[in-house]
Amino acid sequence: MLFKRVKPIDQIIATAEKKSLTRQLGAFQLTMLGIGAIVGTGIFVLTAEAGQKAGPGMMVAFVIAAAVCAFAALAYAELASMVPVAGSAYTYTYGVLGEGTAWVVGWALVLEYTIAASTVCVGWAGYVNGLLTHHGLGLPHALQVGPMDGGSFNLLACLIGLAITGLLVVGTSKSAKVNTVLVLLKITALIAFIIVALPAVKDPNFTPFTPNGWGSPMGGVGVLGAAASIVFAYIGFDAVSTAAEETKNPNRNIPIGLIGSLSVCTIFYLLVSYSAIGSVGSQPMLGPDGLALEPGTPAFAAACQGSEALVCSKEALAHVVRLLGYTNTAGFIAFAASIALPSVILTMTYGQTRIFFTMARDGLLPAKLAKIHPRFHTPHIITLITGTFVALFGALFPVGILADITNSGTLFAFMMVAVGVLILRAKQPQRPRPFRTPLPWLVCPLAVLGCLLLFVNLSEKAIVTFFAWGVIGLVVYFLYGYRKSHLARGVESD
Ligand code: ALA
Repeated sequence: MLFKRVKPIDQIIATAEKKSLTRQLGAFQLTMLGIGAIVGTGIFVLTAEAGQKAGPGMMVAFVIAAAVCAFAALAYAELASMVPVAGSAYTYTYGVLGEGTAWVVGWALVLEYTIAASTVCVGWAGYVNGLLTHHGLGLPHALQVGPMDGGSFNLLACLIGLAITGLLVVGTSKSAKVNTVLVLLKITALIAFIIVALPAVKDPNFTPFTPNGWGSPMGGVGVLGAAASIVFAYIGFDAVSTAAEETKNPNRNIPIGLIGSLSVCTIFYLLVSYSAIGSVGSQPMLGPDGLALEPGTPAFAAACQGSEALVCSKEALAHVVRLLGYTNTAGFIAFAASIALPSVILTMTYGQTRIFFTMARDGLLPAKLAKIHPRFHTPHIITLITGTFVALFGALFPVGILADITNSGTLFAFMMVAVGVLILRAKQPQRPRPFRTPLPWLVCPLAVLGCLLLFVNLSEKAIVTFFAWGVIGLVVYFLYGYRKSHLARGVESD
């Protein structure tokens, strides 16, 4: 019964047309929004973790993760062009699989957007704490990292989360302009890295290629374990579709923004990872038993003490360039990461607020949350609440755990979108599709299988957290959304 509460797609579009966000984003701004969300902690920070899990085989991990995300992006693009309204996977699922599933997907997207934003807050704080310490201005250790990392409160992660929230309350248009400048800075840093590291590539650095094998379920190791973590580096392209309601000519511009931003990033990641591995090597740190140590554990930290290995670095790209003797370029890359990572926090927090906004408009969350600010024309209440949580999680949890939890929610959402495309093709074949997923009966099953494969290769902690979060979500739904749903009560969404 519950899963029969399907919101007709025409009604979704009509609701969106009545509502109140201004259409102001074009294809270029959307692609920039996508790249702004995609390039971040994944390539700048987590490359080292992927090296520890897979060795030089991390290149294959980048390809596997890119392929799975590309299949998912093709599915996203079809639904985004058919239902060009805010809410992303949540909205699509509401129109195809029904309210219960939509709620579960929306709940999983909280892991993707909010926790990803927190992850990048922590990555950013690491770089900035490093810079401050380097200049003799370092904060006390207790304020540099959260309790699980041996500190008390990651002050800078908290402050950057709050600052970005302020920017989003003031308005999208100004935020998008800032975002464009920051994206250009990140891309310049990656190009500088490639120019310096590519000529230093040596064949022997690729041997042995897969020192940890391919991986095992819930093991979080090997090439597949690394691919499951590297998904984080590609997350963000779907943030483009959450901006559909604020996009001019969304039927054309959303697919361009999705596929364009993902393609640009994939090319950069492959060049960066090839250059990093080939120039300085990326063999994992081994324990006494000869097996690779798990990153983010005391044993790994102890083995890394005083080591110059790429897999031990907290600032992987700057570290490689420094090892190659280019100190100024290393400084520039570190500076660019510190200045530009906030654009990822911005896009992720923005995506989350628009999903909550849509859920509140559907009656699944209190309507007060969706109120638009009279002067700034933004959903300021939900933005402030989301931003507070982003800042708090960033202040309290370590980067690796946050990244893996993010990926669990993301892979689940990707799967549901791919399933949604197939169901809609079967049920409503005549509905206009401005963008059609090519070979859908091949691409969508591949997206589902790829997401499942990566999901089971996540670490045990992430998988357990995902299911625990899901149970909490179902309780909240039955206590609130199930009774208040506009669809169930026949109330027109406003
Ligand atoms: N893809 C984004 C990053 O790597 C979330 O920071």
